[in-house]
Amino acid sequence: MLTNFDLEKMVDTTDEWIRTRTGIRERRIADADTSSSDLGVESARRALEEAGMAASDIQLIIVATVTPDTIFPCTASLLQHRLGAPRAAAFDLVVGCTGFVYGLAVAREMIATGVYDHALVVAAETLSKITNWEDRSTCVLFGDASGAAVVGPVEEGRGVLAYALGNDGTNAHALMIPAGGSRLPTSEETVAARQHYLTMNGQEVFKFAVRAMAESSEEAVTNAGLTMQDIDVVVPHQANYRIIEASAKRFDLPYERFITNLDRYGNTSSASIPLALDEAVKEGRIKPGDNVLLSSFGAGLAWGSMVLRW
Ligand code: UT7
Repeated sequence: MLTNFDLEKMVDTTDEWIRTRTGIRERRIADADTSSSDLGVESARRALEEAGMAASDIQLIIVATVTPDTIFPCTASLLQHRLGAPRAAAFDLVVGCTGFVYGLAVAREMIATGVYDHALVVAAETLSKITNWEDRSTCVLFGDASGAAVVGPVEEGRGVLAYALGNDGTNAHALMIPAGGSRLPTSEETVAARQHYLTMNGQEVFKFAVRAMAESSEEAVTNAGLTMQDIDVVVPHQANYRIIEASAKRFDLPYERFITNLDRYGNTSSASIPLALDEAVKEGRIKPGDNVLLSSFGAGLAWGSMVLRW
């Protein structure tokens, strides 16, 4: 665990700045030898156990991550092998913090067409590995986590009711890792310039986030044939409590309907929604029959909102 007070000793920051600007108090950091697939495999096993299923029952594995174990092969291949899901189709989705919602949508459609019975959607992130620990504007924000869901057929009127996904590549530069890809391959210069770490224009992402969450949530809720007032619980991407508060105002929903746990985990990218969803279910805040709205935004800049009936 890394607290704001620990960060005070690492960069020019204060617990007060981090808490009042973001709501974050502490975050979990993976060990040096722990990768995203190590976290993901653990979440996947727990999800299978809760679903009462074996890995061999899964025909499709989708891993949402911006921190794959390696550029290729995909981290989903590693999970497929480690879980023991022989011959399951497996691929990664790289849509930043929206990856889990995108993954659920893809899995839902591939099941709806009858191609597969059961899919595993895993969000596995070790942001600490791509964090520039000398950059106070980003290093105070992120944490490591994973979450997983088993997706399968459900009775009519339950499960995924609707979703709204989108992307605006004009702002792709606002949140990225500049080097290490084919545009700027790794070289001594790129390493010296610390271009293998995440860079972000925080204000630009902030403005985009409030608008994207509101618009995509409204679209998903309307597509589900509901109004915002029908939503019992909102599970937003956990980036900044000010973004969540702004959404609550815009939706005219009480803040209590929004699940937040970013104070304990920071921003865990695509893992933030499954992490918050799982805690909310276990704390009894989400009950069978509830209309649950997931709402995310992130690198792309992309957005994704989804309405579930629990
Ligand atoms: O998952 C998607 C990824 N990202 C996000 O969702 C992030 C969206 N953006 C944000 O959450 C906010 O923009 C931040 C939390 C990143 C920054 O908050 P802000 O209120 O937009 O602060 P700012 O960037 O406008 O910076 C305000 C001041 C600056 O100082 P001056 O120029 O006013 O003197 C910064 O240099 O705060 C300074 N600052 C810090 N001070 C202490 C920036 N980072 C820190 C820090 N500690 N860690």
